[in-house]
Amino acid sequence: MIIVKIGGSVFSDKKGEPENFDRETVGDIAGEIANFYPREDFIIVHGGGSFGHPQAKEYGIREGLPEDWETARYRRIGFTLTHQAMLRANAKFIEAFVEKGLPAFSLSTSSVFITENGDVSYGDLEVVERLLELKFIPVLFGDVSIDLAKGIDILSGDQIITYLAKMLEPDKVIFLMDVDGIYEGKPGEGELIQSLSRTEIDSLLGRLQCGPAGTDVTGGICNKLREAKKIAEHSEVWFVNGKIPGRLSGAIRGDGFGTRIPKTS
Ligand code: IPE
Repeated sequence: MIIVKIGGSVFSDKKGEPENFDRETVGDIAGEIANFYPREDFIIVHGGGSFGHPQAKEYGIREGLPEDWETARYRRIGFTLTHQAMLRANAKFIEAFVEKGLPAFSLSTSSVFITENGDVSYGDLEVVERLLELKFIPVLFGDVSIDLAKGIDILSGDQIITYLAKMLEPDKVIFLMDVDGIYEGKPGEGELIQSLSRTEIDSLLGRLQCGPAGTDVTGGICNKLREAKKIAEHSEVWFVNGKIPGRLSGAIRGDGFGTRIPKTS
C-alpha cells in the first residue's frame, strides 16, 4: 500500500484567490495513480492550500474553544466554515480522480480522528481498512478536529499520515510538494538531498534552524521532517515534486527523482 500526501501548494496557490484549484495538476496526479491501480493500493491525503487555511486563521481555530461564550460562539462558526471549505476542496479531488476511472472515496477526517494538541490521539481505521480490502481509494484531508486538550484544533494532513503509517505499515509514503524534495537550506534553494537517513534528520533540523515542535503551525518543512522521522520507522518515505509529471510515478516505482528516506526501524 502506498500513501500519497498532496500538499496544498501542489494543487493550489496559497497566495492567490481564495479556493483556487489547479485541476490540471490534480488530473495529472490522478492519471499517474491510474497507471498503477489496482496493482497497488493507495490512500490519498490532501492538504488545504487556498481552502480552509484562510478560515482557520481568521477564526483562530488553533486557539481552541475558550470559556468566554461570545468568543467560543465565533470559533464554533469558524470550525464549521473551515470544515465546509475543506469539503469543497475534497469534492474537486474526488471529481478529478473519478474522471480517471479511480474509485476515490471521501472520508471526512474530523469524523475519523480526535486530536490532543493537534496530534492524533484516537483514530478509527476500520472503514479505511475495509475500503482498501474492497479496492477503493480512501481520500482523507487536513481538517478541523475535536481536540481533547483545547476543545477544537486543526489536524494537518502530515499528522494524519504519521498515524496511518504507524497503524497500517504501508510500503511507501510519498509527499508531493511544489519543490523537488528536501534541500540543504530553504525549500527550492541550496542543494537537493537525494538520500537522507532517519538518523540524519535531527542534524538537518538543526542546520535548517527549525525550532522545537509546535512553533511552526501546520505544513512547513520543519514539521514535515519531524513527521518523516516518525514515519520512516514504519515505511520508506519520498518527497517529490507533484507539479512535474512523472515524478510521482518515479517514486512509486522506486527509481524517481526527489528525496528518499529508507525505512529504518
Ligand atoms: C490544513 O491541512 C487543513 C486546514 C487548514 C483545515 P494541511 O496542513 O495538511 O494543508 P497544507 O498541505 O499545508 O495546505
